[in-house]
Amino acid sequence: MTFILFGATGDLAKRKLFPALYNLYLDDKLPASFSIIGLGRKYSSDEDFQAKVEKALRAYSRRSVQLSNLQEFLAKFRYFTFDATIKESYTQLLELVETQENELGIPQNRLFYLSVAPSLVDVITTSLHSNGLDQNRGWKRLIIEKPFGSNVETARQLNHKLRKTFSEDEIYRIDHYLGKPMVQSLNTLILANPVLDSLLDQKLISNVQITASEIVGVETRADYYDKAGAIRDMVQNHLLQLVMTAALYLPENLTDNKTRAKKTEIIESLRPIPKEEAHLHVVRGQYEAGEIHDTPVIGYKEEPGVDASSQNDTYFAARLAIDHPAWEGIPFYIRTGKRMNKKSTQIVVEFKHKMVDSTKLQGTSPNLLVLEISPNESISLRVNLKEASGNQFKPVWINFSTNSENQPEAYELLLFDAILGDPTFFAHWREVELSWEWIEPLLNAYQENLLPLHPYRAGSTGPEAAEGLLQEDQHKWW
Ligand code: BG6
Repeated sequence: MTFILFGATGDLAKRKLFPALYNLYLDDKLPASFSIIGLGRKYSSDEDFQAKVEKALRAYSRRSVQLSNLQEFLAKFRYFTFDATIKESYTQLLELVETQENELGIPQNRLFYLSVAPSLVDVITTSLHSNGLDQNRGWKRLIIEKPFGSNVETARQLNHKLRKTFSEDEIYRIDHYLGKPMVQSLNTLILANPVLDSLLDQKLISNVQITASEIVGVETRADYYDKAGAIRDMVQNHLLQLVMTAALYLPENLTDNKTRAKKTEIIESLRPIPKEEAHLHVVRGQYEAGEIHDTPVIGYKEEPGVDASSQNDTYFAARLAIDHPAWEGIPFYIRTGKRMNKKSTQIVVEFKHKMVDSTKLQGTSPNLLVLEISPNESISLRVNLKEASGNQFKPVWINFSTNSENQPEAYELLLFDAILGDPTFFAHWREVELSWEWIEPLLNAYQENLLPLHPYRAGSTGPEAAEGLLQEDQHKWW
């Protein structure tokens, strides 16, 4: 296999892709013969590039660098100075790829990885085709990073362009939340534990809550983020993917190849929120100055690169209804925000609570099943335990599984799947298109000022209005 990486000098390559490839290599999960060609605009020699890869491994690999095989691994890397807009770049790239394939006896399997500005995607994929890079004897696959469009229209245009060179089966749209080990193993964990399976019964569930809260603010990405906001950055992709993933496990056991079809069924059933009703079901917010773990932090509008009058959202919460027989009458609440009080991604299933009018059951609260996705991984169940004396109950947690040290990273699992040709944990075009369709009226509501932007203090749990959203249903965020 030849791994052809567009954007090899970028942050993603350094922090995620090189370490992922290295850990796959250590685990013998890369093909017997392979080469990695990194492409970037600035000139670099192979040696300098390999030195940068080594530095990245030392800084970001989850396992420490082993001197015994480091040189062998680095020798797989070549650098190619590349200008996406010049035809010769592609003819020379093809020459390099073929030379490597011939000299190293590499089968003609080509994995193209696009980690570039969206404006370059069209010219690159079209030119790959017109210059014959996609006319190889083995398989060819394209991995593409987000953003996949900025609304339904631009996403369709982008997909149309990709499809000129790659078939749907050959396109691997990355959503790194689908690479998180807990997300990947959810189905099998439930299957392996009939006790969990039987808990996920519509008759027992009151509501499902999905949270992805972050401590970090906009960091140095104002240029992108101030246009995208939480709705495009986190909701359209990661949160809706988590909704599909969580909703998938009820009520039937799924085989891998049915997973994506089933996810499409769920997102198709997501009840649209018309823009006029958006304010009833959606809360958007923006962080103000505050403190996180005793450290003062500035507000969003003061962040470098952000306009002082920015109306961009850094927080989003919503109540969703899934018109699917499995989820009739069970609300899904989702929320995500930057500069919140903690880093946590979790799915909480709240069970119906028996409000038995009895003095013998004082202090009981709803049973919860919590699937913690990151930063730790665990499955826990909250039950009520009676105190030794009196009638008072208190909640206690049963942990089904806890984090094991040194788990593979999302990119490692996803790259491995793409190399094997398993698309289960990549977003199918229909999932992406339907997610954008669901988001579209909300974007219109934003534009027409139909949704207030609620300020929230950095370091808090988000705007108060988001608490209100659940209180209306006699629920609360867990
Ligand atoms: C990225 C977003 O896709 O996900 C970032 O662009 C966000 O804004 C990040 O911080 C969160 O990912 P994780 O894995 O840290 O939860």
